[in-house]
Amino acid sequence: MRARQCCEALEQGAILFFARPPFPLPEDDREFLIGQRHMDSRLHKNISYRPGEDVLRGFSDSQESEDRIHQIMRAYSQAVTGFVSRFLSPYAGKLQLDYASFRPLEEQGRDLPLHKRNDLLHVDAFPSRPTRGGRILRVFTNISPSQERIWLTGERFPALAQHYALQAGLGKFCRDGSSLRARLARLLHAARLPVAERTPYDKFMLHFHDWLKENSHFQSGTEKTRVAFPPLATWLVFTDGVPHAALSGRFALEQTFIIPPSALTAPKYAPVQVLENLCGRPLA
Ligand SMILES: [Fe+2]
Repeated sequence: MRARQCCEALEQGAILFFARPPFPLPEDDREFLIGQRHMDSRLHKNISYRPGEDVLRGFSDSQESEDRIHQIMRAYSQAVTGFVSRFLSPYAGKLQLDYASFRPLEEQGRDLPLHKRNDLLHVDAFPSRPTRGGRILRVFTNISPSQERIWLTGERFPALAQHYALQAGLGKFCRDGSSLRARLARLLHAARLPVAERTPYDKFMLHFHDWLKENSHFQSGTEKTRVAFPPLATWLVFTDGVPHAALSGRFALEQTFIIPPSALTAPKYAPVQVLENLCGRPLA
């Protein structure tokens, strides 16, 4: 497939799968990460790495292992970014590098508050990083040497929104989209001035994430596909457009990118555009 076709397929909701990481991920590094037994503690939910500031979060053990993990996460983040810039060349130079994470805990049977549960079908939205209509692209690798990572996926965003967005209360967010406040924020943003406030799009996506997890009819009634990612599998997916639930598996590495609306190759599939069509007015 050509790069542009890959971008289009991803934006339409495909999951692109590699049997092995298509970028350097040394065996030593993988073994070091999965050998950190103390990570069984519930305190260490995820390790996150912020490439922009070169900061590692969520880890506290000996300085020595922390330094090594920091170095592994930095190299991993750079390797994935290099790969994505080449493989998805239409995004090169435009993608925003977001956080990377290491997810050491078994997903099955985790005792988490409802909105944080990974085993309920949802689309991603970040409370701390509004995308203003940009899309969330994630690259995952299952670094478990023996265990599959099991996902469920649901109908893609255009159908999902058609079936559930109005029920979830989209109408209110549509009205906010044409408020004076939202229009002013759009003007400021267009003039490249900093706008701290979330757009009505960001607010709806956060709300929808929670609403989907709360909705037992959606969780039990909707059609789902089970996907098994074997050890070392690597997959790319827009997690704002593909409803997903992680049922089981441990030891996943992940790097997130934000693809701004102007870089998209199939913008009509972008959640912001799907929702704006339902609203008949701008949301971001
Ligand atoms: Fe998610």
